[in-house]
Amino acid sequence: MHIPSIIERKRDGHALTDEEIREVIVSYTQGTMPDYQMSALAMAIFFRGMDARETTSLTRAMLESGERMHYPDDAPRIVDKHSTGGVGDKVSLILAPLLACDDLWIPMISGRGLGITGGTLDKLESIPGFRVGLSHEEAVRQLQSIGVVMMGQTGAICPADKKLYALRDVTATVPSIPLITSSIMSKKLAESLDTLVLDVKYGSGAFMKAREEAGALGEAMREVGEAMGVTIRVCYNAMDEPIGCAVGNALEVAEAIDILRGRGPRDVRELVLSLASEVSQVDAAQLGRWLDDGTALGKFRAMVASQGGDAASLDRFEEVHRAPVIREIRSPASGVVTCVDAETVGRACIALGAGRSRADDAIDPAVGFDRIVKVGAAVQTGDLAARVHARDEAGAIEAEKRFLGGFACE
Ligand code: URA
Repeated sequence: MHIPSIIERKRDGHALTDEEIREVIVSYTQGTMPDYQMSALAMAIFFRGMDARETTSLTRAMLESGERMHYPDDAPRIVDKHSTGGVGDKVSLILAPLLACDDLWIPMISGRGLGITGGTLDKLESIPGFRVGLSHEEAVRQLQSIGVVMMGQTGAICPADKKLYALRDVTATVPSIPLITSSIMSKKLAESLDTLVLDVKYGSGAFMKAREEAGALGEAMREVGEAMGVTIRVCYNAMDEPIGCAVGNALEVAEAIDILRGRGPRDVRELVLSLASEVSQVDAAQLGRWLDDGTALGKFRAMVASQGGDAASLDRFEEVHRAPVIREIRSPASGVVTCVDAETVGRACIALGAGRSRADDAIDPAVGFDRIVKVGAAVQTGDLAARVHARDEAGAIEAEKRFLGGFACE
């Protein structure tokens, strides 16, 4: 097939055939289609879009560029959750071990943080020794013994997405619904799931700022998943303030451990229970009991130990990564908190060193914010609004300034 003609057809607003889409993905994965042609095609897709058939076809081609997970015949139901990302989103750390208390397997393949949205792998790697690079055989063995595994995308899973995502990141073609849908769904479908719950975020800290955009993304992902035989549940959740009271890799793990002990901020617990009950065989009350009685924490510990992590460190996690400077941020006014802007907090966190500007940047697990006051709380002038954890005094002062720029009460 003549690749420039395919690019030209998409540029002019035509739908591509399944064969054309497959040819593009096979050629790009094999390296016979160069980055400059793929960049042009991604930009044409960005402007012209793709219909449901094209998006499903693109997802299938990306899925077939690599291997799928496979399980023994007597495996229980295989379920997972995917969130389109947010600030302070530590839900996966709690939800995956919680679902494993039910008779389910959760083979969760997660990503790293890029932009203002944090990544589950980065959070997990703040647990000393925790290994996210597991082989397929190791993953299945762990599912057989514990029911849950949290790992990164291996080189064998969706190599087309790995290459294309990196290219989109540097060609301003990330925020395209067909490209996001095929990227996310190809990786999730490679887990060979029975049921997937999608947590589609909208608001200042999300990819999709408006509810309508989030709706279009959620529906596109539902259509692709259902066309490929997976039961899809779509939930929409606002992402205007950070989730919970902690943002930053180790700080979020500490908060997740708190929730797994039946404590912690109510919004995180409620979000976990509402998403988990979409795919679980038991109700939210039973899921809540597994948080309160330590069953889910037991699963998390077992998973940490099985993946090489120091499970004993979970009992003193606040001490594992202690930032050199911890500064209290005080409310400049009295009233009811009306805004703790998620995007502002996310950007301040990246400036502290918790996130990446480039995919190969190192991150600092210790930095971020905790004890963040929630919207709706009543505060007096001088009350604690948050604490910043920083590498040095100058970083802490700058982060405080940024945080207060997104903070309002009236
Ligand atoms: N996450 C992904 O894996 N892919 C996208 O395109 C966007 C978010």
